[in-house]
Amino acid sequence: MAVLYINPKNRKGHIQKELQGHFSEHLGRCIYEGLYVGENSEIANVNGMRCDVINALKELWIPVLRWPGGCFADEYHWKDGIGPKAGRKKMINTHWGGVVEDNSFGTHEFMELCEQLECKKYINGNLGSGTVQEMSEWVEYMTFEGVSPMADLRKMNGREKNYKVEYFGVGNENWGCGGNMTPSHYSNEYRRYQTFVRTYDHTSPIKKIACGANVDDYYWTEEVLKVCHDPNMMQGLSLHYYTIPGEWLDKGSATDFDASVWYRTMKKTLYMETLINRHGAIMDKYDPEKRIDMIVDEWGSWYDVEPGTNPGFLFQQNTMRDALIAGINLNIFNKHCDRVKMANIAQLVNVLQSVLFTEGAKMVKTPTYHVFSMYKYHQDAELVESFLETEEIGLEEAWKVPNLHESVSISKDGKMHVTINNLSLTESYSVDTLLTETQVASVQGTILTGKMNACNTFDDPERIKPAKFEEFTSMGNKVSFSIPPCSVLHLELELS
Ligand code: AHR
Repeated sequence: MAVLYINPKNRKGHIQKELQGHFSEHLGRCIYEGLYVGENSEIANVNGMRCDVINALKELWIPVLRWPGGCFADEYHWKDGIGPKAGRKKMINTHWGGVVEDNSFGTHEFMELCEQLECKKYINGNLGSGTVQEMSEWVEYMTFEGVSPMADLRKMNGREKNYKVEYFGVGNENWGCGGNMTPSHYSNEYRRYQTFVRTYDHTSPIKKIACGANVDDYYWTEEVLKVCHDPNMMQGLSLHYYTIPGEWLDKGSATDFDASVWYRTMKKTLYMETLINRHGAIMDKYDPEKRIDMIVDEWGSWYDVEPGTNPGFLFQQNTMRDALIAGINLNIFNKHCDRVKMANIAQLVNVLQSVLFTEGAKMVKTPTYHVFSMYKYHQDAELVESFLETEEIGLEEAWKVPNLHESVSISKDGKMHVTINNLSLTESYSVDTLLTETQVASVQGTILTGKMNACNTFDDPERIKPAKFEEFTSMGNKVSFSIPPCSVLHLELELS
């Protein structure tokens, strides 16, 4: 029997909705085919954006979308992607599969996509191979309202009104694909480039995000903050961490794995919390008032690509293991909402841990999609204090994990949302939830469960889908239930 203690009176911080953000790169079939099929496609679309995908994503209340990369960002030249499509330059996408990029999806198309999704925009600029002028002009092109060469160019290209850009990344992975820089070199470059990322519309200042560390590169975090921790220069510092069950060159299959790989994967995904704590401690040293946000703008599972697919397209299946990865990470972000203000799972459609797959006119929702749909009630809610008694489980000493993992919030309408994951492959656990000085009026539950490698395919698209969960009892301040193995559960409590 586990006990989950919740103290609704102790509000721990605001869960910014951007913690459930997404990422879409010019990579494989994410943008082309996945999101954008062009105006002349036979697939139902509005201004080139697939209707099925837009509708599915809107159900997730998708808060923010990052674009155009990733590694692609540091070789993207935005002027190639504006103006009449016939005249747009073609290039080779050298990072991702060596395919031709025809630039038919550019700035205006991204803005159109975000307008349809009603989400915020996170644009990642090119510091690795672009100039300061190029970056500065992109911001001017998108956001300047008055008379200027770039604003005039935007108007000439059909958009009179300036766009809003909420977040701007100054380079991506500049320690690697974005230029192989040392942290001190990047920091000086950052100071220079960010100077020209100007806010023209002071009612909506652009948040500038610096390239942060890869995984546990604490040296990078320290060195960058040493040089640029002025919150006027930097409003966010990124962190990238992927859950890779195996090694970089042999990551492991998305679907063909055993129980020991399951627990290893769980352990590796839980490592996100250690990274947030340790990078966070360095941030606390330079920014004790927490004015600089931690932005986990790439996270999720990364496996070997599906056999027979282009290795540069990073297409992988998505199973209950991914559902647990999503549930655990979103719980971690909630619990660290004092510092983590945005997180973007990689990537939206058809790439890495996607929420959707497409094939021609067909679309499938992945288990990860369903977790986001169950967790969306945490968006813009208040984190509340919770403590869960757990036990260690697993097959090998080095890869032991807690059996259960939770986070709890109260949304604006006063409802409490408990999201809890059972990491065990074999055991159900009885949980008594006890609320301090608060009575429960009613409970509703939704569960996602299945075999560890169960997934949705185009032939069997609903094998994994949320179901109503009614196996609980509730009296006074207590809710009791039994959570089945390998599952993600959402309980919505009405309080009295
Ligand atoms: O998401 C795929 C790639 O992973 C991104 O382009 C890059 O930033 C990271 O290495």
